[in-house]
Amino acid sequence: MYQEQIEKAKEHFGKLLEEQLQRVEAMKNEGDFLDYKSLDKIIVGVCGGDGIGPAITGQAQRVLEYLLDEDVKAGKVEFRTIDGLTIERRAAENVAIPADVLEELKECHVILKGPTTTPRKGDPWPNVESANVAMRKELDLFANVRPVNIPEEGIDWTFFRENTEGSYAVGSKGINVTGDLGIDFTVVTSQGTERIIRAAFEYAKANGKTRVTAVTKANIIKTTDGKFLDFFYNIAKDYPGIEADDWYIDIMTAKLVDEKRRKDFQVMVLPNLYGDILTDEAAEFQGGVGTAGSANLGKRYAMFEAIHGSAPRMVDEGRDIYADPSSVIRAGAMLLGHIGYNEEANKLYKALEICSSEKKLVITGRDTGATSAEYADYIMETIEKL
Ligand code: IPM
Ligand code: MG
Repeated sequence: MYQEQIEKAKEHFGKLLEEQLQRVEAMKNEGDFLDYKSLDKIIVGVCGGDGIGPAITGQAQRVLEYLLDEDVKAGKVEFRTIDGLTIERRAAENVAIPADVLEELKECHVILKGPTTTPRKGDPWPNVESANVAMRKELDLFANVRPVNIPEEGIDWTFFRENTEGSYAVGSKGINVTGDLGIDFTVVTSQGTERIIRAAFEYAKANGKTRVTAVTKANIIKTTDGKFLDFFYNIAKDYPGIEADDWYIDIMTAKLVDEKRRKDFQVMVLPNLYGDILTDEAAEFQGGVGTAGSANLGKRYAMFEAIHGSAPRMVDEGRDIYADPSSVIRAGAMLLGHIGYNEEANKLYKALEICSSEKKLVITGRDTGATSAEYADYIMETIEKL
């Protein structure tokens, strides 16, 4: 029965295996993290994306250029605006990232990215792969680092979400074997697992954290999550001063709501999909995904983004100039810290904090509040007074 369909599915599966094994070989040969100090010039790409993206990302660029003014003038830092990562172009070419855009991105060292629209079934767009996911894969941005901080509640969490494997690795390449049977795949590799887990422990070590927690569902997803967990405990042995423990994703989701226990978590490392879900939950305690910044780190490239959406309706209603730039500006602060401008990064974090509590200007998303540009000015004025 269904012999022909099964053969076709096997062929498709074979190709996926070849692709993934090639990825493994590439990972075996990858070098160390890029040392920004060794560069004559750091190139920062600013990629606006869709919807409100270009408007808010442009404001973040203004703030970063202001903070790095001297080094921009001295030619040590260059900002490049990268247009064209829009849903219209991606739809017209039926690709996740247009080739010329990808080429431009690859000429940069670090990227500040605005939100991009991810089509889903039923949308007017062809069902192209998410530009986000494609960029993470193309630039091999394997560590998605998402901090959540709520000092008054004692919460200081850093999530290390694996960003290139798991259910996302071939998420757009599942198989409809017959009209009745669909199959998706989850991918885990030794190399991919080791590098994300080590990144989490190295971060813990460098930042005086005393606990790293793995989150899986290894009791059910035995092969891939099982491998993740085995690697976790093996690598933990190299970090004797750091407590290592693990939780299943279901109970972990519950524990984040438990006010007595949640303060105890510090660094969490988890496969892609669990990381996607848990970081939205975590960000909600801090004021919603709109308040969170996110770093996507690889050995050669790094990309920083806000994790909110592209809000196309705001653009349709002509309200994009009133969009809140805080979260992409926060992503910009993470970028500054990452490339070694720690003092400037800290000033920016501080100014963001002051502006959001002092509220001399507020963003309402409409003409009842400040524009993104006015808010960026407010942030720069606040930095000036620090
Ligand atoms: C995120 C987002 C993306 C993801 C989407 C937009 C593809 O939810 O960055 O968490 O699922 O990774
Ligand atoms: Mg998400």
